[in-house]
Amino acid sequence: MNPNSIIPLFSTPLYHTQTDYVMETKEFERLNKIEWFEPGPDDDKVSVVSNSQQFFKDYDFKELENVIEKHKNFYVDEVLGMKNNFTMTQSWVAKTKRGNSHPPHDHKNCIFSVVYYARCYSGDLVLTTRNNFIEDKWNLDFNYKFTRNIFNSTSYNCKVKTGDIVIIPGHVEHMTTQNDSDFERYIVGANYFISGGIGQEKKVTKMELSINE
Ligand SMILES: [Fe+2]
Repeated sequence: MNPNSIIPLFSTPLYHTQTDYVMETKEFERLNKIEWFEPGPDDDKVSVVSNSQQFFKDYDFKELENVIEKHKNFYVDEVLGMKNNFTMTQSWVAKTKRGNSHPPHDHKNCIFSVVYYARCYSGDLVLTTRNNFIEDKWNLDFNYKFTRNIFNSTSYNCKVKTGDIVIIPGHVEHMTTQNDSDFERYIVGANYFISGGIGQEKKVTKMELSINE
């Protein structure tokens, strides 16, 4: 029998790793004591975010910042294989209490986001797409077997836990499942956008982008 090759053609790079950085109690207490955006009356079921959208500038969490930077560099250098420069544009903290989840959304004005799970005992990160690639192409309602695979599924459950880092391209829709733990789930997020030189003169694509920091 001839060997078969199934190639995940033109794929989307979702990065998920377990780091060896878990916040010590003191560090976590400091994270807990930052200023939080007061939830509105309709926000009772969703995550609460930090007032700061420049978390790493407003608060000193250098060790975590270095961990995030290290994984972001690996993602750009080894996964995307790009020479371009990517600058952190926003950073924030979100906490999700028992019974709450975060609804589907994407990250606009962002090439990719790094998410660090400062504390997570329950709840998956779910990446979703309205149509898989072949549905998108043909706009047909195919009938599937019970078990979906990476080619015909429209969602992926990423099992995350304390100390994990996930890097998600900004255009990929995602949500979280309910936190069933008595401990609030904490994430620290950072958005990145391209900066500096991009493109080539001979292709008439050359630009210089600067980010207001
Ligand atoms: Fe998000």
